Amino acid sequence: MWAYLVTGIAVFALMVLVGLAMRMEQAHWVTYDPGSFYAMMTLHGSGMIVALALCGMGGLWFIMDRERPMDQGLAWSAYALIVLGVVAVILSVFPGHFGAAWTFLFPLPFVGATWPNWATGTFLIGVALVMLGWTIFCAQLLGCVLSKYGGLRGAMGWDLVFHHDAFVASGRPEPPPAAFAALITAVDGLFAAAGGMLVGVALIIHWLDPSVAIDPLWAKNLTYLFGHTFANLTIYMAIAFVYVALPRYAQREWHTSAVLAIAWWGTLLFVATAYFHHLYMDFVQPRGVQYIGEVASYLAAFPPAVVTIFGGALLIYRSRMRWTMSSMFMYAGLIGWLIGGVGALIDATIPVNVSLHNTLWVPAHFHTYLLEGVTLFVFGWIFADLEVRTGVVSSLATRWIAGLGIFGGGAVLLLGWYVAGAASVPRRYAEEPAPGPAIAAWASVGAILLIAGLIVCLIEAVRLARTRSAAATP
Ligand code: HEM
Repeated sequence: MWAYLVTGIAVFALMVLVGLAMRMEQAHWVTYDPGSFYAMMTLHGSGMIVALALCGMGGLWFIMDRERPMDQGLAWSAYALIVLGVVAVILSVFPGHFGAAWTFLFPLPFVGATWPNWATGTFLIGVALVMLGWTIFCAQLLGCVLSKYGGLRGAMGWDLVFHHDAFVASGRPEPPPAAFAALITAVDGLFAAAGGMLVGVALIIHWLDPSVAIDPLWAKNLTYLFGHTFANLTIYMAIAFVYVALPRYAQREWHTSAVLAIAWWGTLLFVATAYFHHLYMDFVQPRGVQYIGEVASYLAAFPPAVVTIFGGALLIYRSRMRWTMSSMFMYAGLIGWLIGGVGALIDATIPVNVSLHNTLWVPAHFHTYLLEGVTLFVFGWIFADLEVRTGVVSSLATRWIAGLGIFGGGAVLLLGWYVAGAASVPRRYAEEPAPGPAIAAWASVGAILLIAGLIVCLIEAVRLARTRSAAATP
């Protein structure tokens, strides 16, 4: 777990600096050529998603390994493939200058490229290696969940929902909430990886032999099936941390109920079908799937909002809640997830999407739930572990300073994207039209405050990690 977590956090830290460098360039505080901006944007996007995925994978592997031990060799091989993939992606950008964005949308990597041909191939092979590692991880996780809870029927809680009394009378244990996160990650993850690998191999073949034709709409569907689902699953992996750790601080239990099981069935379906909202602008896409995209996007919001976020609030309400660095991050992460989710829903509404499509509204909503949601769940999990191991919790002053930086600075950074998006400033522009640069300037101040908070958080984590264990429970 720590290999995954530490690698993920290291990549995250580097990518934060790349993110700041981009925002400052858009604010005209620093100057470099647009080619470098797009190369950095490619690195930042792919690096951040993989960083959070690594953190989620490590933690989820640890949680499920306690349910039923898994083979460490397989976990290490998945890790090695992903690290190799990350190295290849870094090489494709530095020194390769590949800049077709982390979504590598066909035919972008091949048309009007300002980078050498080898950089395109290295990037594609790098992503394929990450997908391979991810596939091994998902297959292992699926094996763990199915064998522990008695096949798909048991893992999905079928009898708990439809034969409730008989299930309770049988005395069989129901899968804990985190096991649903593992099941859905594994199933949707394998589905997404299959789509991603299919288009990835096609692109690699096209790179080797450009005469092999690819249908752009086919490629876009598969690319977003993979990209959207993979990015989404970083949230669903990290939510397992909240299911396991938050109840310890609230001194209550988070039980699996029939409602929770049904909610996760919904998530299983909607996460795999919501990606169609990325293709609203593609007029040749069959009309029916545009409706599926909108409906699935809306329905995808219900399980997290009603079961996990509302459930988390109820868990804390009138409990003997202990506020520590860990519980603060996890609770704030639920709020970030909710706010970002609302921003995403607004954008997924077809008449609104006509205006907001490819504006800075998009980075606004996904940074909200990735930066102020998933990242905070990961921090919460790391601090939960440190607090349990040392029996020490951070001072109120440290929590305030870290919180002001991460939530306060983060809010300013995010607000910049929302305001600019609402003013129709396009996304992915090295040189933004007005009022983009002026907004980027004050948003950069937010990013600097956020980074200051992250540094306080890092120093505190290192301090706790170096504290001798008092073998107490926080
Ligand atoms: C200090 C924190 C961060 C800063 C300053 C930052 C900055 C940026 C900037 C300036 C962009 C380009 C937006 C545009 O103009 O279209 C961007 C894109 C992106 N960021 Fe971040 N970011 C941060 C954290 C994160 C985190 C935590 C994630 C989590 C996964 C993330 C994922 C992405 C992704 C996926 C893109 C899209 C790249 C693309 O459009 O191809 N960022 N970020």
